[in-house]
Amino acid sequence: MASQKDTFQQKFKIKGGDFIKAGESSCEIRNILKGIGIDAEIIRRVAIAAYEAEMNVVMYAQHGTIHFTVNPQEIGIIVEDRGQGIVDIERAMQPGYSTATEEMREMGFGAGMGLPNIKKNSDTFTITSKVGKGTKLEIVIKLNNTK
Ligand SMILES: Nc1ncnc2c1ncn2[C@@H]1O[C@H](COP(=O)(O)OP(=O)(O)O)[C@@H](O)[C@H]1O
Ligand SMILES: [Mg+2]
Repeated sequence: MASQKDTFQQKFKIKGGDFIKAGESSCEIRNILKGIGIDAEIIRRVAIAAYEAEMNVVMYAQHGTIHFTVNPQEIGIIVEDRGQGIVDIERAMQPGYSTATEEMREMGFGAGMGLPNIKKNSDTFTITSKVGKGTKLEIVIKLNNTK
């Protein structure tokens, strides 16, 4: 959660359908964490979670934001979008489930492993969605433990 105690925080905008800039925000997050000397294994987990969440906004929403926070205890990534939302979250969380189009699959997306991998790499993961409105992911990765 964002608070005044956050050592660092930054917001990123994501544009739906923009496959040219896709992945830039998660790349920047990775570089920021490298710059402040975060452990490589933690950075790896954050980078996977942020990238998969960012790509889902690019592929399945109109636009969204990433709110990235760092405090001495944890890294937070809140990804909120405006878009179609998810009808059945439990189903969307299943490994291999994907509604990616043929075009997206040709670009190498649509393995259906994004949401399961976000969950796997998070210490806390919550997903909420309203059909026709949008989706919100709250990801926390702790700094002072090993997972
Ligand atoms: N932000 C989102 N908005 C709408 N639908 C989403 C969003 N994120 C994921 N989904 C749905 O959940 C499915 C599974 O997502 P994911 O595990 O990342 O696999 P993939 O991206 O390869 O399809 C997607 O195919 C899509 O139907
Ligand atoms: Mg995905």
